[in-house]
Amino acid sequence: MSMKLGVNIDHVATLRQARYAGSLGSHNCEPDLCTAAEVCEQAGAHGITIHLRADRRHIQDADLAALRPRITTKLNLEMGNTPEILAIALATRPAEVCIVPENRAEITTEGGLDAAGQSEALAPTIARLQEAGIRVSLFIEPATVQVEAARKLGADMVELHTGAFANACGDEQRAELERLIAAATLAHGLGLQVNAGHGINYENIALLHAVPHLAELNIGHSIVARSVFVGMAAAVAEMLEAMRRDPR
Ligand code: PXP
Repeated sequence: MSMKLGVNIDHVATLRQARYAGSLGSHNCEPDLCTAAEVCEQAGAHGITIHLRADRRHIQDADLAALRPRITTKLNLEMGNTPEILAIALATRPAEVCIVPENRAEITTEGGLDAAGQSEALAPTIARLQEAGIRVSLFIEPATVQVEAARKLGADMVELHTGAFANACGDEQRAELERLIAAATLAHGLGLQVNAGHGINYENIALLHAVPHLAELNIGHSIVARSVFVGMAAAVAEMLEAMRRDPR
């Protein structure tokens, strides 16, 4: 299996915002996001992922503008389905967009997008992004109804939400893994590219080898956390190695 790795660098921006939120643009706003993206790419990452949230808690509009021409792999923009962010995506034209649910009070994206329940609102957004040449992914729970809705909506890809899997342990985790296996099998059978993300770390990655057809994983927090101890390049390289090492 050759899963690709998209590194989510939102939390590099979180670290910068902790100190410089009020003085962005001053000369010493570190850590620099473009440098982070470059180091990830040089370490072998296949893409860079960022989430421009409505509340701009980490990634800023200027980050997106600066990163867009600097990224040599591909930029995957995560976004909520709002007119404001859609306009920014259409103006910036990342290679890919992953539409995610967004709730201001959440610490990170909680739960998947209700592709089945929100199809009317999603259809025009997906169409406009695709017309602009942007491949569209929907971040959904590993559930039949959501996978089928993503297919009906004409999405190019689904990103299966691995949060429940990551939070569970023992039998519960096994059950979550089965849900991911079933959803990935269905999505692939329907012609969708299958990605996964959220809460994936250096330990639970071993279990994800059981999920078939995974094309790409989007991983953020665990890599940025690991980079505190070993540096970003080593943290990315270690994750790539864990993705190659199928323990079964
Ligand atoms: N994929 C999506 C759609 C996300 O919203 C997030 C979190 O921003 C991630 C992947 C990365 O999750 P984590 O930071 O837990 O690796």
